[in-house]
Amino acid sequence: MARESKVRDPSLAGKGRDQLYWAERNMPVLMEIRRRFERERPLAGQLIAACLHVTKETGVLVRTLAAGGAQVVLVPSNPLSTQDEIAAALAEEGVYVYAWRGMSEREYYNAIGFAASFSPTITLDDGADLTVTIHKLKHGVRDRTVEYALETAGQTDADKLVEKIRGGTEETTTGVLRLRALKREGKLAYPIIAVNESYTKYLFDNRYGTGQSTWDGIMRATNMLVAGKVVVVAGYGWVGRGIALRARGLGARRVIVVEVNPVRALEALFDGFEVMPMDRAAEVGDIFITATGNIRVINLNHILKMRDGAVLANAGHFNVEIDTAALDRAAASKRSIRPYLDEYVLPSGKRVYLVGEGRLVNLVAAEGHPSEVMDMSFANQALAVEYLVKHELPPDVYKLPDELDEEVARLKLSTMGVELEEMTEEQRRYVSSWELGT
Ligand SMILES: NC(=O)c1ccc[n+]([C@@H]2O[C@H](COP(=O)([O-])OP(=O)(O)OC[C@H]3O[C@@H](n4cnc5c(N)ncnc54)[C@H](O)[C@@H]3O)[C@@H](O)[C@H]2O)c1
Repeated sequence: MARESKVRDPSLAGKGRDQLYWAERNMPVLMEIRRRFERERPLAGQLIAACLHVTKETGVLVRTLAAGGAQVVLVPSNPLSTQDEIAAALAEEGVYVYAWRGMSEREYYNAIGFAASFSPTITLDDGADLTVTIHKLKHGVRDRTVEYALETAGQTDADKLVEKIRGGTEETTTGVLRLRALKREGKLAYPIIAVNESYTKYLFDNRYGTGQSTWDGIMRATNMLVAGKVVVVAGYGWVGRGIALRARGLGARRVIVVEVNPVRALEALFDGFEVMPMDRAAEVGDIFITATGNIRVINLNHILKMRDGAVLANAGHFNVEIDTAALDRAAASKRSIRPYLDEYVLPSGKRVYLVGEGRLVNLVAAEGHPSEVMDMSFANQALAVEYLVKHELPPDVYKLPDELDEEVARLKLSTMGVELEEMTEEQRRYVSSWELGT
């Protein structure tokens, strides 16, 4: 089995290094962890298979893990999100990279097989494709994606492969849900730290990171003005909250939230947004964004009701939230009119515009979250990997301990030059007397 990096164009490495330099400047917490890792080498001897969006921020994480002594293999967690110059730069630095932008489904799972072929000790995932594929191998599931993975995984003995893995991490909401489902079925074979469940991850990355970068993607693809538009956001979770908040900040005339959960719907209402079902929102929206983690949240019936010129985008993990297959079948014609913007002409003559093929818009049509946000998410990733190396955990889905989460927040504040108030001794005693219930 050839274990050579495969990237689009190795000559892009110089450009990639400049991007990594820029990201490193804006990721001071991760850089602080890197300096400690360089001294302590806590990951010496580990082989880390990372299935993450191949962006400049991921590059900073990978360099940090390597500084801790690990050998890293990097494959993408989405076929369309790789930044080719980053893949080239990391490959040149000795990371095994199998990634380029615009992979077919087969190439994408070949990449996952490539990662498995190294027999890693730790897996890092964003959406759980690598972890789920390893579990499918173990349980003898042989579907199309596994067959593709096996093309590059070689003569992998699935039991041995799993035995060698100490643990893994998961970056996003959808991935955590998939892994909890594996646990419920009694099939989870090794421990997973759900990085998504750290406060310093989801409160910032999902909300402010996706909130800004989703609009960045839509604006780069369309160059449309958001001010004066009617924006419809499906899902008022952490991602949806951020997108709705930023829509208001950009001057949207109305921001409508579509929710299935009554508490979240009420929260949206009290946050000052309109709430209604998609059926009604479809008739009035200019820009539609899905962020639910669910399937066919915008279906063909909704699309047929939309106004001429409606723009559709998805910020959820998988490209299943907008029913693009039904749209493809129903449309009289389809053409690409700008990078990451497709025009569909419906039988009625109305046109709708789909951004980034309905895949997660911030990574496809923009660069993903800003580095300052990924600084915290990936600080959690680096600490989670270290935690897995230092602790033997039975198979389950864990949250990173609160002390480490708080440590990330503390470091972030200090790099921003912001000081915390400190409790006085008297206050400390007062608060702990509550804890004792006296
Ligand atoms: N694009 C990115 O960079 C990025 C970043 C973080 C998370 N994500 C992904 O975004 C998605 C949402 O993440 P989250 O953290 O906000 O999750 P969440 O669970 O906090 O929120 C999802 C919300 O969608 C609602 N919902 C479910 N089905 C619905 C439907 N049919 N119509 C309307 N609302 C519906 C749920 O009630 C929930 O409130 C996940 O797939 C996650 O993996 C993407």
